[in-house]
Parts: sequence; C-alpha cells; structure tokens
Amino acid sequence: MSRELILGIETSCDETAVALLADGKDLLAHVILSQDVHEIYGGVVPELAARAHLAVLDDVVREALGRAEVSLDQLSAFGVTAGPGLIGALLVGVCWAKGAAFGLGRPLVPVHHMEAHLFAPSLEDPEAEPPFVALLVSGGHTLLLHCESWGRYRLLGQTRDDAAGEAFDKTAKLLELPYPGGPQIELLARAGDPARFPLPRPMLRRDQEPGDPDFLDFSFSGLKTAVAERVSEVRRAGRLEEERAHLAAAFQSAVVDTLAAKTLRAVGLTGCRRVLLGGGVSANRALREELSRRLGPGGQLFSSSTRLSLDNGAMVAKAAAFRLSRGEIGELDLNANASLPFPGLSA
Ligand code: KG4
Ligand code: ZN
Repeated sequence: MSRELILGIETSCDETAVALLADGKDLLAHVILSQDVHEIYGGVVPELAARAHLAVLDDVVREALGRAEVSLDQLSAFGVTAGPGLIGALLVGVCWAKGAAFGLGRPLVPVHHMEAHLFAPSLEDPEAEPPFVALLVSGGHTLLLHCESWGRYRLLGQTRDDAAGEAFDKTAKLLELPYPGGPQIELLARAGDPARFPLPRPMLRRDQEPGDPDFLDFSFSGLKTAVAERVSEVRRAGRLEEERAHLAAAFQSAVVDTLAAKTLRAVGLTGCRRVLLGGGVSANRALREELSRRLGPGGQLFSSSTRLSLDNGAMVAKAAAFRLSRGEIGELDLNANASLPFPGLSA
C-alpha cells in the first residue's frame, strides 16, 4: 500500500521550512532555512522576508524531496501555513502550494500557524495528545488554551499587548543584543542574579480570582517599560556592561514566573495536569524547568526539541495531516490571512 505523503510548507515569518511527513507520523525530511537578511535591522523586515522566501522556496522543496528520495508526483497533499503571520511572507508559501496542488491535482490543506505549534510535540512524543492545557508562546502570540481533543480548543487567557517572544526581543534590543533576543537573553541570564533588579510580575496579583478578567490573561508591555527604566539608570551610571546579565536574568525570571503561575492557575481551573508548551519561547530551558517543577510529580509536561519548538515545516505537515483526515481541504481561491482566526477556538 502506498504511504500518505504530506509536504508541509512554512513561510509565515523569517524561516523558509519544508518537511515531508509520511502517514501522519514519520518525518522523512525536514529543511529549515533561517533568513539572515534581517540581522542588521534588529528585527524582521516584512518585505525582505517575502523576497527571501521567494528566492529560496523552490530549492528548499527540492532539497527536502531529494533527502527523502521522493518525487513531486508521489506527494499526496500540500499543507501550508495560511496565517497568521506577515502577509507577503505567507503569500509566497500559499501561492507555491496552490500552484503545486493545482498542477498535480492533489489536495491543498491550509494550516493555522499557532495550531501547528500545538502539534509539534506529538512529532517526537506520541503521548503529547489531548487532553492538555496548552501554553503557546511565540513572537506574535501568547495563548493559554484547554484542548480536550484535536480541533476543539477553549481560550483561557491571552496577552493584552506584547507577546512573550516580542518582550524577549524588545528587551534584548534594550540590552543591545542581536535579534532574535530570546536565545541571547537565555544565555546571558545564566550568568546573572535575578534578585539584583526586582521587576514587576505583570498582571499577576494574589487577590485575583477565577472569573476576574485578568486572572489568566497576560501583559508584557509594562515589564518592558520597567526594564527600559532600569537600563537607562544603569547606562547613565556607565554600568551596562557589568549589569547586562543581571538585567537579563531579572527579566527572564519575571516572564517565566508569570507564564508558569498563569499556566498553573489554568491547571487548577480545568483539573487537567497535562500541560503542553509550544511556540518559539518554549525553547527556553528556564521556562520548561519552572513549569515542570511547579507541575510536580503528578503532572506531565510536553514540549519539543528546540528545532521543532521554533518555526518549522514538520509541525505544518502534522497539522495538515490532521485537517486532511477530517476532509478539510482548501479551495484554489484560498488566500493568506495575516490575522487568521484560530480554528475551533471557543471563548
Ligand atoms: O514560534 P517562533 O519561532 O516564531 C513565531 O511564530 O513568532 O517564535 C519566535 C520567538 C522570538 O520572539 C524569539 O525571541 C523567541 O521565540 N525565542 C525564545 C527562545 N528561542 C526563541 N525566547 C526565549 N528563550 C529562548 N530560548
Ligand atoms: Zn511560530
């Protein structure tokens, strides 16, 4: 019997990634090309991202197929991130997938980028299946969900302003560290003392109760302002070099503390002690360790390797396999949507 072969394509931000997934579980090939054109600008420049995807996508697909020794006409379906993300960048992947699906007469499966992050841990751990409470933390989103089964998600909390990854990136910029800031801060924080600069825990107070609108929501913009104030004091005193690691540690500990506390509140409310951590910030070891410590021996934490935590094509192929199994196929008038709503999400 021939295998179901799904090509997953991810171009929503600054990674051009393509993966080939067999029978919804075996990763035959996975190529991720991170764009470096943005480095000198200290952040992703949308127009440059789109152009860079366009320049390399054909080659990235060819490389993935070559590694798996599979030809285009053997593919069963094309899964592609249709949103959310940068519109120009998304369009490159969506147009490519539409052309290929139409040309070969195969199904086109649109994928939601954040739902794809939910599927990433299950590529490496077959136990990473619902039910679970999910904390999704990326450069553009911070979501706390309860997932009872794939495709059915209840929104428990979300950020009111900056995403967790965005806060890492902005803080890194204040500390004069390169983009993306998350890994830089994590590295630096290991050498720092978080207690040296006490920072606020945003939107986290003891007197909050279930039902309060801010009980499970997040806010990171005030924390960024607090860091900016400490940085300018330290800079005025000519001490940025000596204090940088302490500032990074203080910031990381405030974010980790807040994310972990709210996730544990969600665990308490739902009674579900299985927690799934996804999105780029889930690569952060301090966050994983803190969540796992607070969950204790009675809980389970699911996350993926760093490669699959960051934007990648495998998670897109995996999410596409799920949507395809439900017969959810995109039409050829499919458009990319920069603010695509999360499928199956209820308030
Ligand atoms: O999911 P992702 O790769 O792309 C988006 O969908 O946005 O997440 C990227 C974000 C960036 O903000 C980056 O700084 C952050 O994830 N990030 C981290 C770490 N690695 C990546 N944040 C904290 N610690 C890390 N080790
Ligand atoms: Zn992402």
